[in-house]
Amino acid sequence: MHNFHYKNGKLFCESIAVESLAQQAGTPLYVYSQKTLVENIRRLETAMAPVNPHLCYAVKANASLGILSLMAQLGIGFDVVSIGELKKVKQAGGKTEQCVFAGVGKTEEEINAALDLGIYAFNVESIPELERINRLAKKQDKKAPVAIRVNPNVDAKTHAKITTGTYENKFGIAFEEVASVYQKAHSKYKNIHLKGVQIHIGSQLTNVAPFAKAVKKMAPLVTQLRAEYGLEFFSIGGGLGIVYNQALESGSADWWHNEGKNYASPEKLAKALIPLLKPLTASGVKVLMEPGRFVVGNAGILVTRVEYIKQTGKKNFVIVDAAMNDLIRPALYESYHQIVPLKKSRTEKTFKADVVGPICESGDRFCQNREISEVKEGDLLAIMSAGAYGMTMASNYNGRPIPAEVLVNDKEADYLRIRESIQTSWRYEGIPGWLIPEEKTLPPNKRKRTPKNKKENI
Ligand code: LLP
Repeated sequence: MHNFHYKNGKLFCESIAVESLAQQAGTPLYVYSQKTLVENIRRLETAMAPVNPHLCYAVKANASLGILSLMAQLGIGFDVVSIGELKKVKQAGGKTEQCVFAGVGKTEEEINAALDLGIYAFNVESIPELERINRLAKKQDKKAPVAIRVNPNVDAKTHAKITTGTYENKFGIAFEEVASVYQKAHSKYKNIHLKGVQIHIGSQLTNVAPFAKAVKKMAPLVTQLRAEYGLEFFSIGGGLGIVYNQALESGSADWWHNEGKNYASPEKLAKALIPLLKPLTASGVKVLMEPGRFVVGNAGILVTRVEYIKQTGKKNFVIVDAAMNDLIRPALYESYHQIVPLKKSRTEKTFKADVVGPICESGDRFCQNREISEVKEGDLLAIMSAGAYGMTMASNYNGRPIPAEVLVNDKEADYLRIRESIQTSWRYEGIPGWLIPEEKTLPPNKRKRTPKNKKENI
C-alpha cells in the first residue's frame, strides 16, 4: 500500500500535489513518500513480530543517500552487495556492524574493506570465496563473520531473470553440499567465524508457497548447524513481491481486501513462515530478512511529461520524456507499471496506446496496447510503483542525464538528488592526448591529462 492518491482529480503524494513538484524540479522525476517507506518497514516488522526479525534493507533496490539515512534512523540494518553500497550506508549514518555483505564476486579489495569496516556477516556463495576470506582475515589477524548462502533448489515461480534459488542459477552452495562445507570450514579455516546461514530464492514473489517450501527444507539444517557450530542467525533473504496495480482512489484499503488478497503480503508471509521459524527462534536462532522491493517499490513513482502523441500504422504512441535509461524494468523484465495522469480529465475518456520513451530502441516502452487515460502534449503522467530498481538501474544511455529525486514528508518535500547536468554526465571521460590537435606533437609525458585528476598515461 502507499500514500499516492487522487484529491479533486489531482494526484497527491501524501499532502503535496505531485504536479507542483514536477513544475519545480522538472521531469523525468522520481517522487517518494516517506510515510509509505516507514509504514512498509513497520508493517513487515509487525507481521513477523513473533520471530522478532532483524531487517537488513537491500540497498540495491534504492540506494539514495536520503533513503538510506531514513532506514538507519529507523534502526534497521542493510544488505549490501559491493563496497560502494557499504560505504554509502556508512556515509548515510548506517552501522556497518548491522550490514550483511552478499554477492558471488567479492573482490579482495572489497573483502579487506569490509573486514576493516567491521560488518555483521559475509554471505558467502562459494568455497573459493570462503578460502579467500579466510586468507585475507588471517592477514588482518581477524576472524571473519560468515554465513553460507544455501541454494535450496526451490523454484520461486517468478520471472526467470530474478529467480535465484535453483540449480540453474549462479547463487549459493547446493543444499546437499552445505553440511560438508560447514564441516570443512570449521576444521580448516581458522580465520572464519561460522555465524549464520542464508537463503534468497528470488525477487517479486507473489505467492508465499515457495518461501515456505524453502524455509521448511532449511529448518532441520539450521537446527543441525546451530547444534554443531553454534550458528547465531538464519537469513531468509528478500523477495516479498508487491502489487504493481493498486487502486489510487480513496478506499484502497477495501481494494486490498477484495483484490489484493490474491497477492503475497507480509501478513500471509508471516502466517506461512512463523510456524516454521518459531522452533528455531525458541532455540535462540536470530531471524534476518533482506527486503528491498517491498520497502521502496510502491513508495516511489516516476513522473514524466508527454512530448508527442503520434499515430502510425494502426497504433497510438504516447511519447514521453522518461525512457528506459530512467526505468529499465519494463524493457528488461516486461514488467507492468500502472500509468496514470497527474490530473484526471473531466471526461475520463481512455484510448489504447503504447507509452514509449525517446530512446532509439523499440524496447524503450513503458506499456503496450494499454487502455490509458486520454492525454495530450504537455500532460504529466505518473509511472507507478517505480521506487525499487528504478533509479538504481538508471544509466546515461543516449546521452541522457540521470533524473532528479524528491522525498515527500507530509507537507514538506526536498531533493534526494538534483538532476545531473549534461556536462557532469561525462565528467570522468577524457580524450587521449594523441587525438588532441595541439597536444599530439608533444612527447606522451608532456601532454595535458584529461580528465584532470587522471594521474598518468597508461
Ligand atoms: N537479498 C538478496 C541476496 C538479493 O539478491 C536480493 C535481490 C534481495 C535480498 C532483495 O530482494 P527484494 O526484496 O527486493 O525482492 N532488478 C530486479 C530485481 C533484482 C533483485 C536482485 N536481488 C527487478 O527490477 O525486478
